[in-house]
Amino acid sequence: MSADPSAVPPIEDWNRLLDGKVAVVTGGGAGIGAGIVELFAAHGATVEVAEIDPDRAAAVAQAVTDAGGRVRTHVVDVRTEEGVASLAEAVLDEHGGIDVLVNNVGDYRPQVRFHESDPDSWEEMYRVNLWHVYAVTRAFINPMIERGGGSIVNVHSVEGMRGFPGEPVYASMKAAAAHFTTSLAVGYGRHGIRANGIGVDLTQTPQVDYIRGNEDHEALWEAWAPVGRLGWPADQARVALFLASDMSSYVTGHNIPVDGGTKAGGGWFYSPAAGRFVNRPKGL
Ligand SMILES: NC(=O)c1ccc[n+]([C@@H]2O[C@H](COP(=O)([O-])OP(=O)(O)OC[C@H]3O[C@@H](n4cnc5c(N)ncnc54)[C@H](O)[C@@H]3O)[C@@H](O)[C@H]2O)c1
Repeated sequence: MSADPSAVPPIEDWNRLLDGKVAVVTGGGAGIGAGIVELFAAHGATVEVAEIDPDRAAAVAQAVTDAGGRVRTHVVDVRTEEGVASLAEAVLDEHGGIDVLVNNVGDYRPQVRFHESDPDSWEEMYRVNLWHVYAVTRAFINPMIERGGGSIVNVHSVEGMRGFPGEPVYASMKAAAAHFTTSLAVGYGRHGIRANGIGVDLTQTPQVDYIRGNEDHEALWEAWAPVGRLGWPADQARVALFLASDMSSYVTGHNIPVDGGTKAGGGWFYSPAAGRFVNRPKGL
């Protein structure tokens, strides 16, 4: 295959990076998913949202429509075969294929200590963090191949890219989602399909609420994140937009931590008291 510079839109179109594209976003009713849906729609995509919660589905549909975008919502549970099949049928009946798939659903709750875990808790973690990544991708990959390509963005976690003491089963599901992404990219690149992942951390959403019950959080961010602030769904959505669009036409197989620098920081923490980074904090 030869270089195709026309795949990158001319600079005057950089505010419409997904014009005419069809994008599926799972868990698009709230949090990071909703941020992605709203930004993709603002960039001209028709967005098909899979969302388990009808109120959240209605809210994101309203927000996109009010902003002049195109969106449809499907109230489904992507942890089930029926949910995935009904999503795929509704989307493919309407469009015949898709250009972008964002697998965003995931949950670290309930956080069960490994020595207290059991096969049921492993199964729950698997269903909500990994099973649907396979199932939804499987449902849309043939239509993507037939269309000549597409972009898959898997939203996982920085906890799949470093050791996570709190919940090793969750972390291993996220690591599997990251490696699935890498392997998919290698296997399907020749079909024009790119696959990349986002390793999220520290982002304010209904699931991970850093603000509620944490009145002094503003003062703590300089210790919590190298960039010194909380992350927002829009921080994730901009990276998803880059990966979904032709702006990243030569990027595939990568998992990008979008984490305010926590992975890069490793075990180093900024100590306001010491006025420097420390790797052996004694009450920061
Ligand atoms: N927020 C963070 O700091 C953070 C950190 C690490 C990883 N992540 C990952 O980022 C992704 C998004 O997280 P978030 O914080 O925005 O989550 P969230 O729970 O705030 O939002 C997820 C959305 O998905 C919907 N949903 C949940 N289960 C579903 C299902 N089975 N079928 C369809 N829809 C479903 C929810 O109703 C909700 O609207 C997840 O994969 C999560 O594991 C987030």
